[in-house]
Amino acid sequence: MPTPHINAAPDAFAPTCLLPGDPLRAKFIAETYLNDVTCVTDVRNMLGFTGTYQGERISVMGSGMGMPSCAIYATELVRHYGVKRIIRVGSCGAIQPEVQLNDVIIANNASTDSNMNRQRFGEFDFAACATPRLAHQFLKYADAAQQTVAIGHVFSTDNFYDVPDARLEQLQRMGVLAVEMEAAGLYAIAAQYKVQALCVLTVSDHILSGQQLTSTERQNGFAKMLEFTLKALHN
Ligand code: HPA
Repeated sequence: MPTPHINAAPDAFAPTCLLPGDPLRAKFIAETYLNDVTCVTDVRNMLGFTGTYQGERISVMGSGMGMPSCAIYATELVRHYGVKRIIRVGSCGAIQPEVQLNDVIIANNASTDSNMNRQRFGEFDFAACATPRLAHQFLKYADAAQQTVAIGHVFSTDNFYDVPDARLEQLQRMGVLAVEMEAAGLYAIAAQYKVQALCVLTVSDHILSGQQLTSTERQNGFAKMLEFTLKALHN
């Protein structure tokens, strides 16, 4: 039975699924990095693909932007399609001076202004964190490959626009590396369904200084993060 938002066959997804926000990024990833690719779902044009990387099955699917959209796809993937490991590959806006444009950030944990995890966790503050072993695996690979990555705290916001400067300064004071829109929700779903999750992010803009990547630089940065992710997973 297909789910409301995924019209794939029950065994169409691999146990590991990459989750970019943009469905066309999912298509690009599948076509560029995977072999024997099939498009397995296209409801609302939120495309999903399964193929192989170095002989192992892997899937990639768009999540849309923000926690409500990401939560819909992540929940259906783990509840109905046997997905056991979700790696979000996305972008973020940095808020610390030591983090540069195009750097790769592993989101070890995520605070949020969203109410979604409080609804899930009975009004308490859920400590949304990546699966430790997965974060460790990625860090170990980065060290072995002498690739610099930042690992730390991100903030998952419901608001892309109109975030007050005072809020950003407060996050900066608390050591938050960057702002994005999905990690905290994804980590809570992974905890509830006892699956693994990790968010790997590329810095597409620097919020405090206003620096931004051009679209070509963005594309190249995304490719660098993706190659790192695929290698770290299969290392
Ligand atoms: N805010 C939220 N998410 C983001 C941003 C931002 O400034 N940049 C990239 N993802």
